[in-house]
Amino acid sequence: MRQYSIFLLALIFCMQAESNMALKELQKMLGRRQAYHTVIVNGKIVSRGEFNMTPEHCNLRYNIMKPIMDKYSRSFTLLDIGSAAGYFAIRSAADFDCTAVMMEQNYQPLQKICEANTDLNNLVFLNTRCDVKMLRCLGDCEHFDVIMALNVIHHFEEKWEACLDALMKLGDNLLIETPVKTTTGSVIGSKYLTQLNNAIQKRGGVILGEVPRWSSPKDPARIYHVKCPSKKLRYTRYDTVNPSAARNYPIESNYEEKFMHKKGQKLEWLKGMNLWTFKILNGTFPSTPVLKKSVLDVFKDDYKDFMIWNLILQGNEVKVIDQDEDWHPSARGLKDTLKALEVKPKPGSAINFY
Ligand SMILES: C[S@@+](CC[C@H](N)C(=O)[O-])C[C@H]1O[C@@H](n2cnc3c(N)ncnc32)[C@H](O)[C@@H]1O
Repeated sequence: MRQYSIFLLALIFCMQAESNMALKELQKMLGRRQAYHTVIVNGKIVSRGEFNMTPEHCNLRYNIMKPIMDKYSRSFTLLDIGSAAGYFAIRSAADFDCTAVMMEQNYQPLQKICEANTDLNNLVFLNTRCDVKMLRCLGDCEHFDVIMALNVIHHFEEKWEACLDALMKLGDNLLIETPVKTTTGSVIGSKYLTQLNNAIQKRGGVILGEVPRWSSPKDPARIYHVKCPSKKLRYTRYDTVNPSAARNYPIESNYEEKFMHKKGQKLEWLKGMNLWTFKILNGTFPSTPVLKKSVLDVFKDDYKDFMIWNLILQGNEVKVIDQDEDWHPSARGLKDTLKALEVKPKPGSAINFY
């Protein structure tokens, strides 16, 4: 018992030290500037956010979206596209039994923000700028419960509608925030805002609330909820090279339960995303050493198909799936999985690690 207490204290000490170091590095990176959003690290506000992205403003927006997540009595997966400093995903990760996936490429402090949040074990960061093709591939092989696209669709400019349609195929509940008016003419994609707002409503988008726009507080931004009809996967893994392998894997999901139908079996769906998708989309948090440890932790000699694409990333931990057919003997699969974790991919392209 005493040994266990000492071990636990040592672990807490190490985690604290790791968080402090990441926080120091984050502060150094920010210099005298505030972070993009309010930044919360292990429950404490460490930056109030630039522009008007204050704790009050971020809290107001979060509370408009939270009732959708409150509906879940099961664990779920959230994807925040264009997450910037990650306020919304990180708050959700602290409040819910979810895996919170952030996709962003233009805000490098996010890596340190994830590293500093050592109290959370359910954060994932894809260090990627997505295009429409990537969103479509993602919707073909992953199914998210909540997708946040906050002030990001108009960044796709003339491709805004293709982006909206691809977002609607990513999962069940799409939360969109978008400016309403085109008053700030210099803003990227602003000439599409009226069309975008109309298109969201045409697709069944319900206005959850209106908030002052982050960059120009006099203009409103709307937060919509779109319930998406898409309920199937085409691939069981991110597959950019083999369209002939496309199939139909129906997804059955509600706020209490989630299953995938595959080869006549009804399989329980686990929260998180495929570790293979994480690698292909340049996932950088959790770090490779953390992932290697979690892979070694779940490895068993008698697995029949231990491979990177049969591992579900839930944050700092992975879970093993699909071990009922002999494809990759365990030892070889473990070696290849560890090797694949080392590869630095061109985001969106298949990894060739053989
Ligand atoms: C206006 S900011 C909004 C940040 C945050 N979602 C919010 O509403 O508070 C738009 C963010 O989307 C990111 N972004 C724009 N296009 C993107 C793309 N194609 N893929 C990923 N992120 C993108 C930008 O880097 C930026 O951080």
